[in-house]
Amino acid sequence: MRPLEWDVRFGSGVPALDADHREFLSLHNGLLEARGHGRGHRVLHQVLEQLIAWAEVHQAREEAMFAASGYPAAERHRAEHARLLASARDLRQRHALDLERLTRAVLSLFDFWWKRHIMEHDLEFGRFLAAGPPGRTAAPAPAGEPAATAGTRA
Ligand SMILES: [Fe+2]
Ligand SMILES: [Fe+2]
Repeated sequence: MRPLEWDVRFGSGVPALDADHREFLSLHNGLLEARGHGRGHRVLHQVLEQLIAWAEVHQAREEAMFAASGYPAAERHRAEHARLLASARDLRQRHALDLERLTRAVLSLFDFWWKRHIMEHDLEFGRFLAAGPPGRTAAPAPAGEPAATAGTRA
């Protein structure tokens, strides 16, 4: 498994979400790098805690934007969020797994999350925001979001 470097094609067009997604990459890369230096097992639990904390904040941010924009695929997307977060929490409970197996399971979850959720569902949401149907006016940015978020929907 190789580090994932941010690329412009990964952008959803929503700066706040892209910033979160870059943070996700940096958590993944941090674990890989630690592993490469023989420290993977030492940082594993901390990375998993950070991933769970990241998901709780990030997914709530996305879901607030679904509500503000009337995103029609919100329910399916929210269900994906719930499944991913449950998988991460489930791995936290797997103390019986040896650290190497747990490290591989966490890296696989990162991989799945990136390719099958962020690159598919999150970018689909970004396209929805960018190309909203005629007549749909830009919703105000959710509380605490930078104004630039709403500007991407013009
Ligand atoms: Fe996301
Ligand atoms: Fe998402």
